[in-house]
Amino acid sequence: MLDDDHPLLAQHSWHHLDEQALAALAQRLAAWLRADPSRANLRLTLHGELGAGKTTWTRHLLRALGVQGRIQSPTFALVEPYEVTLGATPVTVMHADLYRLSDPREWLDAGLAEPMDAPGLKLIEWPERAGRLLGTVDAALHLQHDDEHHRHLTWHAYTAAGFAALQALQSSR
Ligand SMILES: Nc1ncnc2c1ncn2[C@@H]1O[C@H](COP(=O)(O)OP(=O)(O)OP(=O)(O)O)[C@@H](O)[C@H]1O
Ligand SMILES: [Mg+2]
Repeated sequence: MLDDDHPLLAQHSWHHLDEQALAALAQRLAAWLRADPSRANLRLTLHGELGAGKTTWTRHLLRALGVQGRIQSPTFALVEPYEVTLGATPVTVMHADLYRLSDPREWLDAGLAEPMDAPGLKLIEWPERAGRLLGTVDAALHLQHDDEHHRHLTWHAYTAAGFAALQALQSSR
């Protein structure tokens, strides 16, 4: 629970996903965002231990949103920005990995507060490192190992937007 002002509205888990099944979920989310680019004002956090698949999920989502070329893990840069076009609408996507943030104040010192508050899609690994500075989270995605090649994903929806995305993922199966 990252934001006391936003209680959990709903949660859903998908079990035993191989990477292809995880990619398919990311692709379904991308399709839902494409259908109405205003949906892309969404802040998603990604939780799970090292190697859980947070970056892998994000890469599949970015690819499905039209990002070409190499998708770096933003471990050192903290934030990697992308510009995508959904329909005819340009959307800024920020992929953050805050693992190396040792104190939430570095979030402010690094000048990340303003760009991360701007409209667009935010995908944030290791959000715990920013403490409460992160602001409202629409949904928190928790990835856990089932075994070497399978994960389970739990989607926690905290806002109407995070809930709408979850419903879209559930209903498009
Ligand atoms: N079902 C699966 N879903 C996701 N990744 C999988 C799966 N099976 C195997 N993998 C592999 O597990 C690794 C996940 O690494 P990834 O970098 O995505 O983890 P991460 O959660 O971002 O870790 P970190 O906290 O270090 O950033 C990748 O090498 C990926 O190929
Ligand atoms: Mg990662």
